Amino acid sequence: MTHYDFDQTYERRGTDSEKWAAYGNDVLPLWVADMDFPAPPAVLDALHDRVTHGIFGYGGVTAELSAAICNRLWEHYQWKVTPDQIVFQPGLVSALNVSCRAVCPPGAGVLVQTPVYPPFLSAPINQGLQLNVAELTVTCSSQSLQYSVDYSAFEAAIQPNTQLFMLCNPHNPVGRCFTREELTNIADICTRHDLIICADEIHCDILLDQSSHLPIATLSPEIAKRCITLMAPSKTFNIPGLYCGFAIIQDPALRKRYQQAANGIVPQVNLLGLTAALAAYTHCETWHKELLTYLNGNRDFLVDYVVPER
Ligand SMILES: Cc1ncc(COP(=O)(O)O)c(C=O)c1O
Repeated sequence: MTHYDFDQTYERRGTDSEKWAAYGNDVLPLWVADMDFPAPPAVLDALHDRVTHGIFGYGGVTAELSAAICNRLWEHYQWKVTPDQIVFQPGLVSALNVSCRAVCPPGAGVLVQTPVYPPFLSAPINQGLQLNVAELTVTCSSQSLQYSVDYSAFEAAIQPNTQLFMLCNPHNPVGRCFTREELTNIADICTRHDLIICADEIHCDILLDQSSHLPIATLSPEIAKRCITLMAPSKTFNIPGLYCGFAIIQDPALRKRYQQAANGIVPQVNLLGLTAALAAYTHCETWHKELLTYLNGNRDFLVDYVVPER
């Protein structure tokens, strides 16, 4: 038995949706990770309660939300994170840019794996840094494309001035969760070249089939020290317009550099984003499970439609 109806359709044209406003009425926009389901009922209830209170003064992160994130990281990954290691951010694209500012002096290099979500390419340039590109390798087998890491190309792309590697895992757009072995090899190379790793893991809760996510920072305490891990409830619970995300930075010195780079430039998270995040992380497990079942079904439908003789 299911509890939630993901079949219902909603008109989003004319509702200030960036996704639906980008093209004409004859185009189905599939270009941005912004789902067409309402947020889970528990999130909507929490937002209604907050709005009914009616006062929107300056807010702040509650101990309850920090604890919910720490619990979740422990339950999902056996990753021990403490509230002081979480830096809240009103969006992960700005966190990519802050990471570049925090880690790199002017003119330093930032390593990225292509193809990749475009802000990975623009963040270093925005900060006056150089882009070092390592292409992922693609092979085609039994009607599917498989992307993998070419470790020689990865290491060869590192220049003497490279200081930061920006990892996208699960990877947008290639749709892969990197394995423990791949992440270990990547982390070893980064350690050898003393690179900081900024890992954008925003899609870690939208996994199809039997995929599982491994935060690169959980490989070892030594790797954790060189990691800025970015996460958010935004994609999974369809609340990206509420702009609430966070960076987990366990090394105190690196965290301080990050906070200094953001100081006075990056605003606090909007209090409705914080309200939604708490409800999403504490009351939406069944909704999330049913969402993933539904998305698996959508993916199967699409593949059968495109490759009917499979
Ligand atoms: C890998 C990745 N990072 C970040 C974002 C956007 O993050 P935010 O809306 O929090 O800036 C997206 C959106 O598609 C994404 O795919």
